[in-house]
Amino acid sequence: MTLHIAEMLRSQREHISFHTPGHKRAGADITELSYSDCLLSPSGVLKRAEEDVAKLLGAARSFLLTDGSTCGVFSMLFALRKRGVRSVAAPIFSHPCVQNACEALGLELVPIGQKTRRGIPAQPSVSALKEAVAAADALLLTSPDYYGFLPPLAAAKELCAQAGKPLAIDGAHGSHLHFTAAHAGKFACMWVDGVHKSLPAMTQGAVVSADEEWADALLAGVKTFRTSSPSYPIMASVEYAVKFPRNERIERAAESAKAALGAVKNDDWTKLLVPFAQPAAAQAYLEERGLYPEFNDGNYLMFYLSPCTKEEEIAELVRLASGLPRAEIAEDAPAGAVPMYKKP
Ligand SMILES: Cc1ncc(COP(=O)(O)O)c(C=O)c1O
Repeated sequence: MTLHIAEMLRSQREHISFHTPGHKRAGADITELSYSDCLLSPSGVLKRAEEDVAKLLGAARSFLLTDGSTCGVFSMLFALRKRGVRSVAAPIFSHPCVQNACEALGLELVPIGQKTRRGIPAQPSVSALKEAVAAADALLLTSPDYYGFLPPLAAAKELCAQAGKPLAIDGAHGSHLHFTAAHAGKFACMWVDGVHKSLPAMTQGAVVSADEEWADALLAGVKTFRTSSPSYPIMASVEYAVKFPRNERIERAAESAKAALGAVKNDDWTKLLVPFAQPAAAQAYLEERGLYPEFNDGNYLMFYLSPCTKEEEIAELVRLASGLPRAEIAEDAPAGAVPMYKKP
């Protein structure tokens, strides 16, 4: 597939920069110029890139973001507020940006309780979702979560449809699922793809998308929260990442590694959660050998994979980690300290 933004950047002519950014190198890090389009009202390469991305993500409209999934969550909640929503139900272990956006937008946040199982916040049950949909004007779920678990998406979609209430999904950790039936776009009226986390985009690269009904309200949201100086390297990397082919060999290798490592059986091949007996010592041991996990929450080390992970890297993880003692995490163990989340 054509990479519209990258091709435009490659075919730039050497020129004298009397424009921002101030470094004046005029390399790939350019600004919105006569030929490079404008993200707030795209009509050229950015429009073509956003159209392709929308097609791949199953959206009526998709918006490239260079300010992370956070900007996408703020934009979705803005859209909800604009269309009359006054209260939003969201699980208590949602990312803090959900709470921050609700506070900023004057939305009431209706917390959905989450039990903790073996130190991992469990996704809400169907009955908890039923109560939540009855108690709020809209539902916002995280799918998958940081531990690689999906909420009951089909039930959530049906409950929201029956109640005539919108379902939004924070898919900060789920953009790699766009090839599958579990992708947020199959269930939500608006959703975020945190492309930089599980696909090969630069840090902060993300996409927020909507179906036909919510596209205009979401556009108003991105116009409010998106930067007016978007990074072209990030935007080019987002287009590249969404068009990056599925790597089923790595998906299979990841599932085999889960079994070999005694990892948690979750719903997401990109997140390997291993319960080491001494997580800090295991982390230090692995890092001394050049292998860095995503987090240590006190119960588990999490190893975050992507289609760019190499089979030999997975093999090295299995080789190094196999000899390290494991823990049996108790059913009622408290949630580990994951600094990204806070309770309302
Ligand atoms: C579930 C979830 N939502 C949103 C975000 C915010 O994403 P970003 O850092 O891309 O703004 C994160 C970040 O880790 C997250 O874990």
